[in-house]
Amino acid sequence: MPVTCIVGLQWGDEAKGKIVDLLTEHFDIVVRYQGGSNAGHTVVTGGQKFKLSLVPSGIFRPEVQCVIANGVVINPATLVKEIDDLRQRGVTVGKNLLISDRAHVIFPWHIEEDRLLDQQCGGEAIGTTQRGIGPCYRDKVGRAHAIRLGDLYRPGLRERIEHIARIKQRILQSMDGQTTISLDPAEIFAEYTQYAERLEEFVGDTTTYLLDSVEAGKRLLFEGAQGALLDVDHGTFPYVTSSNSSGVGVSAGSGVPGRYVTKVLGIVKAYNTRVGGGPFPTEQANEIGQHIRDRGNEYGTVTRRPRRCGWFDAVAARYTTRLSGVDSLAVMLLDVLSELPELKICVAYELDGRRTINFPSQMDDLRRVTPIYETLPGWQEDICQVRRMADLPVNARRYLERISQLLGRPVEMVSVGPDREETIFV
Ligand code: GDP
Ligand code: IMO
Ligand code: MG
Repeated sequence: MPVTCIVGLQWGDEAKGKIVDLLTEHFDIVVRYQGGSNAGHTVVTGGQKFKLSLVPSGIFRPEVQCVIANGVVINPATLVKEIDDLRQRGVTVGKNLLISDRAHVIFPWHIEEDRLLDQQCGGEAIGTTQRGIGPCYRDKVGRAHAIRLGDLYRPGLRERIEHIARIKQRILQSMDGQTTISLDPAEIFAEYTQYAERLEEFVGDTTTYLLDSVEAGKRLLFEGAQGALLDVDHGTFPYVTSSNSSGVGVSAGSGVPGRYVTKVLGIVKAYNTRVGGGPFPTEQANEIGQHIRDRGNEYGTVTRRPRRCGWFDAVAARYTTRLSGVDSLAVMLLDVLSELPELKICVAYELDGRRTINFPSQMDDLRRVTPIYETLPGWQEDICQVRRMADLPVNARRYLERISQLLGRPVEMVSVGPDREETIFV
């Protein structure tokens, strides 16, 4: 399909990177449109493992144009390092990468604000990745203290950094009176001028480029970061990220109107995980959760925090499937569930004595729900070598069928290992 979106339907880390890399050969352009270096997308190719946070996962095919669009927030230090690392490992990064001059830039004060704010939630911390994502998006919306990538190439940058740094120093001090950071505007200006020089060859107007491209019938692949349950408007607020990480974010984050999108592929793990705070009805803080964490190597790509693990939540995934306008599903990490004697899928919640399949909008309600499970028999076989649906154990097929039924969408792909090859096309 000419314009396809890849959207994670859970709390992130659904293995979007693998799917984007796998599908890239069918597209002309791959676009990141929200999030920033809170994302960690893993691609395993040619026996090498790559972790990407800002560069689109399409970068491994040099003939494909990669775009970091306006909706992404960019830490230039991270981006420069990521580009250098990729080049060092033989990956082409040059004209095949275009970065929006409208994208907002993360500064040291954002990272410090992120750290201080997360300790001041009053109650359970959000547990952010501490990459300055929330504070940068807040400044974007607030406008007064924002700097966009294009501003790095305009006159007056030094004065602008001095002005904002002065204000931020006061804000940071008043936040807890004991911030250790001392913002040196001259140093920050010098550092960011260097980044700007390094990135200049990539920077341009991606909105016009993408509009020209869709009108010319080019094939676009949108690479969502995070997952729909972390969407700032529709997710498990306030335990969310600061961008629209469900399917609704594509237009605002790229400038490409939704009417051009011809297909949305929803990515789910065969179970649920979450990093950071917030309610998680099907969480298994027990040996089952540990089994999943061990087999799935469920540790954060960015922060290495152990991911919280639990049973597949079909109530949540049905909600995000509808929210993101999903056409079909890719079910990832199915191999991780091998050897469990039985598997559970949450098919409804009980809230205040009533059964519901609607996902609550209020977090205190979500904390109070009791998951209603359906139990399915597991399979003992290692399935990493399986490449055809027909060769999967019958119980694995039944499990996939039930997920498909509950979400009301066909399963198009099944992943049984991190490698490109370890994939079943249905
Ligand atoms: P993303 O943020 O959605 O791109 O996902 P992450 O890269 O953060 O996490 C997915 C992890 O699962 C990565 O380490 C992948 O290499 C790995 N992975 C992807 N697909 C599979 C699979 O089918 N089975 C297993 N065992 N691991 C997988
Ligand atoms: P990818 O793209 C999983 C989570 C954080 C925290 C919350 C807010 O790899 O799927 P933030 O730093 O964004 O303000 O943190 O969101 N989070 C992710 N969890 N995968 C991600 O990205 C995430 N990006 C943010 O753990 O709970
Ligand atoms: Mg990730």
